[in-house]
Amino acid sequence: MSKAKILDGKKIAADLRLQMKAQVDAMDEPPILAVVMVGENEASRIYVRNKQKAAAEIGIICQVYEFSDSIGENALLQSLDELNENHHIHGIIVQQPLPPHLNAQNILRHISPSKDVDGFGLYNSGKLMSGENGGLAAATPKGILRLLEETKEPLSGKLAVVIGRSQIVGRPLAQMLLNMDCTVLIAHSKTKNLKELTKQADIVVAACGQPQMVKGDWVKDGAIVIDVGINRKEDGKLCGDTVFDELSEKVSWITPVPGGVGPMTVAMLLENTIYAALHAEKCCCHCGH
Ligand code: GUN
Repeated sequence: MSKAKILDGKKIAADLRLQMKAQVDAMDEPPILAVVMVGENEASRIYVRNKQKAAAEIGIICQVYEFSDSIGENALLQSLDELNENHHIHGIIVQQPLPPHLNAQNILRHISPSKDVDGFGLYNSGKLMSGENGGLAAATPKGILRLLEETKEPLSGKLAVVIGRSQIVGRPLAQMLLNMDCTVLIAHSKTKNLKELTKQADIVVAACGQPQMVKGDWVKDGAIVIDVGINRKEDGKLCGDTVFDELSEKVSWITPVPGGVGPMTVAMLLENTIYAALHAEKCCCHCGH
């Protein structure tokens, strides 16, 4: 029998979208999010479609800019310059992964900090590093923090083991948890005796991209488990980076896959876009914006 309470990201994100819709309705003009896509990637297309659908639901305009995978770095940087300078656009994201001939870091750093709604640029990641969780911070970790808030458990002093050191999830999340006074351990593919570490954790975040790696005997009773993974099994079903059925018999809180972290990521991207629009510099070209 399942003991764990479910952190229902789908429901929490839907409630957040309702609140954000009211916020957008009260704005003079709708926020505009530019999504840059380079080349063909089926998963990216699905993610971008989800972002567009959620944005439309709350009145955010999502403009997708598609480029061929043969585009050179300079040409892409020039297109980003145009988006940076366009006062009608409030938020910019470059969907990852990018084709290997492009230097992703150079490209992400080129987005104006005030429009960097993924929070991957140097300014916004630096702010996080200096101890501030607010502003334009990465969407998936922000969504995870919201889910942790839902447990009403104090985070201060808890031991959190984050499995995965990606720029999108592991690193910014570890920093956010540290900023919330957790004791944080970042584990990765070279970590030794991982199971011994996760067994001690009050919070385990699985963001390793390995289907069902974290099993029931990897966690202690009453832990909180956040599963960031989304993998397709041979039978076509989706699974996370944890074995949900085993863990849910032991832990106090757990996220389902799908319907846990995924919808929260999209909601936090929209929240960041609204934030960017509310804090945008006013245009001085007399166009009314
Ligand atoms: N690819 C996978 N996750 C993300 C994300 O959060 N933002 C962007 N831009 N690309 C991604």
